[in-house]
Amino acid sequence: MTLAVPTLRLMPEIPGRVRGYPQLRFMGSKFRLLSWIHEVLAEIDFDSALDAFSGSGCVSYLLKAMGKRVTANDFLNFCTTIARATVENPGVRLTEDDLELLLSYDRRHRKFIEGRFSGIFFTKEDLRFLDRTWWNVGKLQGEYARSIAVSAMIRSCAKRQPRGVFTVAGDPEHYKDGRRDLRLSLREHFLEQVSVYNSCVFDGVKGCVAANGDILDFDADEFDLVYMDPPYVPRSDDNCYIKRYHFLEGLSCYWKGMDILESSRVKKIVKPYTPFSYRRTAISAFEAMFAKFSRSILVLSYSSNGFPDLPILVGLMRRYKSSIEVFEKDHRYHFGTHSSAERNRVKEYLVVGR
Ligand SMILES: C[S@@+](CC[C@H](N)C(=O)[O-])C[C@H]1O[C@@H](n2cnc3c(N)ncnc32)[C@H](O)[C@@H]1O
Repeated sequence: MTLAVPTLRLMPEIPGRVRGYPQLRFMGSKFRLLSWIHEVLAEIDFDSALDAFSGSGCVSYLLKAMGKRVTANDFLNFCTTIARATVENPGVRLTEDDLELLLSYDRRHRKFIEGRFSGIFFTKEDLRFLDRTWWNVGKLQGEYARSIAVSAMIRSCAKRQPRGVFTVAGDPEHYKDGRRDLRLSLREHFLEQVSVYNSCVFDGVKGCVAANGDILDFDADEFDLVYMDPPYVPRSDDNCYIKRYHFLEGLSCYWKGMDILESSRVKKIVKPYTPFSYRRTAISAFEAMFAKFSRSILVLSYSSNGFPDLPILVGLMRRYKSSIEVFEKDHRYHFGTHSSAERNRVKEYLVVGR
């Protein structure tokens, strides 16, 4: 294993538009590490890339902005929806007419969200807004316009919700502590978010794709480089994405085909299984993933609070790659409570295998 040392060479600047990416408060998001990731990736020669666990989509967006043909994959539908709007989308924006259509009143609209989530999240007016707008999304022409509209709804809900998570039910009035994001209605947020997403859209190289599935079932296409940022086995706290973001996941498809856990106070949905989240399955999952993509350059994001420890992962990668470099950076995740702040101070690694 080589520990890569910083050089004094001038590093290429991160493409400017990446700073304006509409990031989510997403657990494990690499948004604040993008400059560093860019520095490392800019030194590697590649044209096509798979972002195997795209999450908030920011790394895929960076790759697209670097001129790469990128496939963003995640097994959560809301992550794929955002990647479809920002990464796969070759330049489609919502027009004034689209917006007017989205905001129009159609008395045939369904009332599923209001019925299910009244008294749990948001105000009645907010929930009605979501039902009405979703009904109109179906009238938009084309999947990119629809994905922008749904992404704008997703980000609006994440912003309006305290801490951006959906773990506890709460009266929105209770949180009116002056913060603008909690003060604005969902409709007001939505208007802002449509223009935020519209302005981040651009046409990259041909063939960018947003995929939705378990990475271990992914049809291993030929990618020059595969970037992997899997969820970590939690050391103490849990790392469940569905527990935090179930509302966004349901919203991304209007809860179509989703199993709601009726006994849960917040009406969670069933979480998809991932072997990366459990001690007894994580190591073999890493091994299967490295084997699957062994013909590509492998770039693994990892952190010192993950399991297994770094040397084990490097050893696994070495089975497929002759040269391994490890880049390292101090980092602090803004997630969780103050008491966990110490735990959130970690070393971030990028392990590059060729
Ligand atoms: C650490 S996050 C990725 C964060 C992302 N790089 C970012 O900057 O926002 C891990 C992601 O992996 C996804 N995930 C977990 N297990 C998966 C699997 N087996 N296949 C595909 N995606 C998976 C989760 O939904 C989550 O979005």
